Amino acid sequence: MKEDGTPYLTAGFDSGLAAQNMMLQVRELGLHVRPIGGVDRDAMREVLDLPANLNIIAVLVIGKRADAKVLEGTWAYDLEVSARVRHDLEDIVLHGKP
Ligand SMILES: Cc1cc2nc3c(=O)[nH]c(=O)nc-3n(C[C@H](O)[C@H](O)[C@H](O)COP(=O)(O)O)c2cc1C
Repeated sequence: MKEDGTPYLTAGFDSGLAAQNMMLQVRELGLHVRPIGGVDRDAMREVLDLPANLNIIAVLVIGKRADAKVLEGTWAYDLEVSARVRHDLEDIVLHGKP
């Protein structure tokens, strides 16, 4: 948001562009990254002392990928080693008017 409280109309689009570029650069550097939206925004705002006009849209978690074995015995293991399911482009791409 602008300091006067009005929103930047393209903020979501701009954030997506920036995030995608950062994610591509992270991979180029040999690291891994996952975007997450399920974060405690109030806690982040407090810890980072963010001004009220900044919205937390999402967070990029960046790190070195570990072997899935480190997750053995936890709920996350099966999820990590399971085949990924992705939407078909036909399901998410709009052709023509809605
Ligand atoms: C905008 C956005 C927000 C996301 N938020 C979460 C989240 O809060 N928690 C989570 O486990 N995954 C979240 N994901 C998905 C993860 O980034 C990641 O894709 C997922 O954990 C599956 O990993 P995979 O890509 O190896 O299959 C989000 C993805 C996007 C694009």
